[in-house]
Amino acid sequence: MTDATELLDSGERLDREALRALQLERLRASLRHAYAHVPFYRESFDKAGVRPDDCRSLDDLARFPFTVKADLRANYPYGMFAVPQERIRRLHASSGTTGRPTVVGYTDGDLSLWSDMVARSLRAAGARPGDKVHVAYGYGLFTGGLGAHYGAERLGCTVIPASGGMTARQVQLIRDLEPRIIMVTPSYMLTILDEFERQGVDPRSTSLRVGVFGAEPWTERMRREIEERFAIDAVDIYGLSEVIGPGVAQECVETKDGLHVWEDHFYPEIVDPITGEVLPDGEEGELVFTSLTKEAMPIVRYRTRDLTRLLPGTARVFRRMEKVTGRSDDMLILRGVNLFPTQIEEIVLRTPGVAPHFQLRLTREGRMDALTVRAEARQDAGPEVREAAARSIAAAVKDGVGVTVSVEIVEPESLERSVGKIRRIVDLRRTDAQGA
Ligand code: DLL
Repeated sequence: MTDATELLDSGERLDREALRALQLERLRASLRHAYAHVPFYRESFDKAGVRPDDCRSLDDLARFPFTVKADLRANYPYGMFAVPQERIRRLHASSGTTGRPTVVGYTDGDLSLWSDMVARSLRAAGARPGDKVHVAYGYGLFTGGLGAHYGAERLGCTVIPASGGMTARQVQLIRDLEPRIIMVTPSYMLTILDEFERQGVDPRSTSLRVGVFGAEPWTERMRREIEERFAIDAVDIYGLSEVIGPGVAQECVETKDGLHVWEDHFYPEIVDPITGEVLPDGEEGELVFTSLTKEAMPIVRYRTRDLTRLLPGTARVFRRMEKVTGRSDDMLILRGVNLFPTQIEEIVLRTPGVAPHFQLRLTREGRMDALTVRAEARQDAGPEVREAAARSIAAAVKDGVGVTVSVEIVEPESLERSVGKIRRIVDLRRTDAQGA
């Protein structure tokens, strides 16, 4: 561990045994809190025939029912809250792609916990009190901006609350205010990169040393691309609004070996996405979270739809989760073959002549779905290089994923740029008969 031990907080200094004891104590209290104050949990536990006191070991959690996004929607807006409205200090919401948003609430205590967890995450990323932190996650109902903001303040940093968008100004702020840390989605970091190049400024010449990237899946290739182009360390931050926001898990800069889950507050399980059975550490499945200390909105066995595996701790006592490279929601099934956008990202980023910008277009040809990978040519790529790139991407997808796709190499700067979470898939299959 290169991080000086005196920098660790009390949770991070626990040994495994003390951690498990603390988790069980907190889990039992949180289940009781949920059962006593949220009718939804009372009903769902009763229906499953379990009471909070039936949880006598961490393994007993498996006897409790899952919570899914539809449950949050059904209880929109305040049905999942466990405290009176006067104790709710803030609301956030996630837009989702369909239907009602999900609303989440925080007490003073929850906001403080959240700041502590983001401060802990930033410290693991290599930030220190006194550092300037440029926050380019969106501010507003999205948890990214404000979550990052208060966490950075909690650590004792100077925050530059840039929010997302106005990319030319982002570059100016980075040049003039000289932040050491940037917090932003990896896809928006690439948009900022383009802007540096457009202005003729070397992105490797800035004061930035560390980027804390999350809110969307990104690959090891993308890490290398960003690290190389900006001369920074790029680390992964994970979280979701239903659990708290950013700062549920964080990669340590000294190891870059997956994300330590802050499991003294957010208890992770991996389950089989089909059967719901709990899988042992090391096996891949769907990540499920139970909050251990949240007040306003305790969450029990929330199914994130994110696919990963749990691994033993390295730089911290907490278990790690492997980088999330796919959500079950984003998985495309093309002629029976499963495909994640990140698999295409890996291929596009290693292909000469194309920029790291791509989009996936889904269409229907007869009764079959068809996928077109649209990747942007680099400025200096002539017709032959583009031709070769198209052939090489199609071949790599065929070999690596096992499915035939069309590839279009489009003009530089013609694909829409991300200012926050990127949308990789453009689904043009919908017909009137299927509805919107
Ligand atoms: O995206 C919170 C966040 C903000 C995390 C800023 C990190 C940085 P939601 O909008 O509720 O919350 O979306 C949560 O985003 O279930 C994952 O599918 C995805 N996601 C978040 N972080 C990562 C990551 C925020 N590091 C959903 N890698 C989650 C892959 C991520 N996917």
